[in-house]
Amino acid sequence: TGLITLDPGYKNTGATKSAVTFLDGEKGILRYRGYPIEQLAENSDFLEVAYLLINGDLPNKKQSAYFKERITNHTLIHEDMKRFYEAFPSTAHPMGILSSMLSSLSTFYPESQNPNRSIEDIELTFHRLVAKITTLAALSYKSSKGQPYIYPDNKKSYVENFLYMMFAVPSEKYELDPVVVDALNKLLILHADHEQNCSASTVRIVGSSQSNLYSAISAGVSALWGPLHGGANQAVIEMLEMIIADGGDYQKWIEKAKDKNDSFRLMGFGHRVYKNFDPRATIIKKSCDEILAKMGVDDKALGIARKLEEVALKDPYFIERGLYPNVDFYSGIIYRAIGIPTEMFTVLFAIGRLPGWIAQWKEMIENQEPIGRPRQVYVGATKRDYVPIEKRK
Ligand code: CMC
Repeated sequence: TGLITLDPGYKNTGATKSAVTFLDGEKGILRYRGYPIEQLAENSDFLEVAYLLINGDLPNKKQSAYFKERITNHTLIHEDMKRFYEAFPSTAHPMGILSSMLSSLSTFYPESQNPNRSIEDIELTFHRLVAKITTLAALSYKSSKGQPYIYPDNKKSYVENFLYMMFAVPSEKYELDPVVVDALNKLLILHADHEQNCSASTVRIVGSSQSNLYSAISAGVSALWGPLHGGANQAVIEMLEMIIADGGDYQKWIEKAKDKNDSFRLMGFGHRVYKNFDPRATIIKKSCDEILAKMGVDDKALGIARKLEEVALKDPYFIERGLYPNVDFYSGIIYRAIGIPTEMFTVLFAIGRLPGWIAQWKEMIENQEPIGRPRQVYVGATKRDYVPIEKRK
């Protein structure tokens, strides 16, 4: 009862108190559990950041070893799950497969639906998710290529293992490139959490009905898939390729993005919260230059991206609206340079974001938050009487 405040898109509505991620959109500050993103990207590794987000503090040596061992021990998926891959059409998008596979994990671990299970059991779900998501993702790629599945190698680190499962081919030696491993580690860290974004809010809202965590995470993957959210990384590369194919006239596309009668948007530009710059984009842009130089890659798309940024940042349309390159603007160029196929870009985002979703879900459960249930302002028909079908016009 009482007055309902309308706030489409929840632009100004806080739905929770959170101690996970601090974000200042005006100053371009991002911190996980108090640690600046720049320091984590420089010094940490992805599993350590996952631990930090989920548990609240950086792990000591013993905690770190235990966490890594647990993740390593749960990388295998039930053999029966492999059959699911055979049923998807060869054109299936890996995000659709990933969300289905994550949801199906709930059928293999039905105890996850019990809201009264022990803390140890809940933790096991966290470990299973972080461990299995890379296996599930790599299998979807292998299956789309018609290549044999590569089982996880427990001697490898998290990121190494993912690359190995993606790219190794039986009977051929697979050599990991440390530049690629470092680049992926950094990208996953930069994507690991971003407070109450669309997918994290989805995970919280699904979880708030006490549905199991696998289903909540699967819903988060579905939310992330859209081009306005995580799907932007794929959309950026497709846009850059389209501009190149169209003759490279980037100015024309800037004008289209500004035209209110044209639905085209400059993908990888703008953010709901950052209105001055996205600190993740600053780090990624620098890494992008370094990685491409180290790998000796000369990507035309990078040239177009730089031009678009240069022109847009001087244009009053983008300045007035506070539109800057976001995390997705340069990430796709790095993914491409390290050999990740375009349709897998958003899957990489999901692997990175998983610890954040888990941390957000855990916080919601620990704080015993009520079921998420927004209100509305009704604008439909007023009361009217039922008309039998014979009498309808
Ligand atoms: N190109 C052209 N115009 C834009 C763009 C863009 N990329 N983004 C926003 N605008 C305009 C928009 O038309 C509106 O103009 P006006 O005030 O004249 O109507 C104004 O800027 C505000 O935009 P909005 O859509 O009301 O802002 P929002 O906070 O609802 O949307 C956004 C944020 C990220 C969805 C949007 O900027 C966008 O669609 N960007 C492109 C997609 C993208 O890169 N998404 C990735 C986000 S970062 C990764 C992640 O965390 O998900």
